[in-house]
Amino acid sequence: MKILAIETSCDETGIALVDVQISDTRITAREIQSELFSQIDIHKEFGGVFPAVAKREHAKWLPLLLEKILTCHPARSLSQTGEDAGSRDYSNMVPQHDSSTDESVQDDRWSQIEKLLEREVGLFEKTKELLLKYPKPDIDLLTVTQGPGLEPALWVGISFARALSLYWNIPLVPANHMKGHIFSVLLNQTEIKFPTLAFLISGGHTELVEMNSVSDFTIIGKTKDDAIGESYDKVARMIGLEYPGGPKIAELAALARHSSIGSGDFTFPRPMLHTKDLDFSFSGLKTSVLYKVKEIETLTDTLKMNIAHEFEQAITDVILYKINKAFEQGEYKTLIISGGVIANTYLRTQVEQLAHQMKIPLLLPKISDSTDNAQMIAVAGAIESLNTMATINPEITAQGNLSY
Ligand code: KG4
Ligand code: ZN
Repeated sequence: MKILAIETSCDETGIALVDVQISDTRITAREIQSELFSQIDIHKEFGGVFPAVAKREHAKWLPLLLEKILTCHPARSLSQTGEDAGSRDYSNMVPQHDSSTDESVQDDRWSQIEKLLEREVGLFEKTKELLLKYPKPDIDLLTVTQGPGLEPALWVGISFARALSLYWNIPLVPANHMKGHIFSVLLNQTEIKFPTLAFLISGGHTELVEMNSVSDFTIIGKTKDDAIGESYDKVARMIGLEYPGGPKIAELAALARHSSIGSGDFTFPRPMLHTKDLDFSFSGLKTSVLYKVKEIETLTDTLKMNIAHEFEQAITDVILYKINKAFEQGEYKTLIISGGVIANTYLRTQVEQLAHQMKIPLLLPKISDSTDNAQMIAVAGAIESLNTMATINPEITAQGNLSY
């Protein structure tokens, strides 16, 4: 089935069209087209994501990105591909409403759409123009991120998706952003064997999740304070690097690693290595970096590289240690590591080595699918539709703290 997905949980506006095939034994996902606008340059000046700005930018970019998809995939060319529309037939699940020419019905629909979009300045007008310009695309299902994330940002995507669902008469199902990160590995044409251990390392989450099926999730370990991505971002700020700090720290650490600079003459703690549980804590590590920075009179480029290198090494050591521990405690057939931090190339090589030594099948998303995107939401939405009935214009509430 062809799914159009919308992602607006944080500072990336994403829309993607993905073909997801679900059979009893296998799920395959093939990206047809994905569009992303990263708001990073806009948020840099605030040193982090500013929700009101994120919301405004999502409202600006959603119609622009959708137009790119509708231009590349007009209704006719999609249906002409002759591909199987998927194993699920939604036609009997949803009210088959008219594509009515009756003016009063149309007026009523426009007024409902206007009500959905009225909170975002100009969004209704732009959306209406777009919907009147392009024919209904050949899409089986719509999905949108419900949470977790920034609620003002999530609401924009949800209202936009509901408007599309209502106008095109295409069912819509909510998707969970973290499940999206987990299922991003399916975009690589891979297979998840259960039980599996999913390790999520993003800007807002650091958690180990045991999965016994695509809809059975148990958190078996999580951070008690900062998430790993958040720690990267905070440490980056301490040494004067721009938001988001992950890629900047990674760059400096790589420079230190490939020269003889290394970590210098100091070490940072590797927190929670001596506890029996699978939990994490990064605030102590962050504080150690802060003390170090305060102690240094002039933060030279070399010292910044030392700090970045030692910080990244401490994080990597903790990650490798906890993976080992989790595999000692449970029998898993697959290890998935996903979330923005797995865009880090050093970490990728380290976990690949560990998985090789431990003979664990490791699934990682492509680097480009690691940070927030809509293609992963399409896969999560398709899987969600196995358990949650997709309907036309459903009442979806943004849930900033949505869990599994
Ligand atoms: O998954 P994501 O895009 O958004 C959330 O759902 O949170 O993750 C964003 C996080 C940020 O904290 C960013 O600094 C971090 O992922 N990140 C990285 C790298 N690229 C992004 N951290 C370390 N190394 C990277 N190369
Ligand atoms: Zn994310």
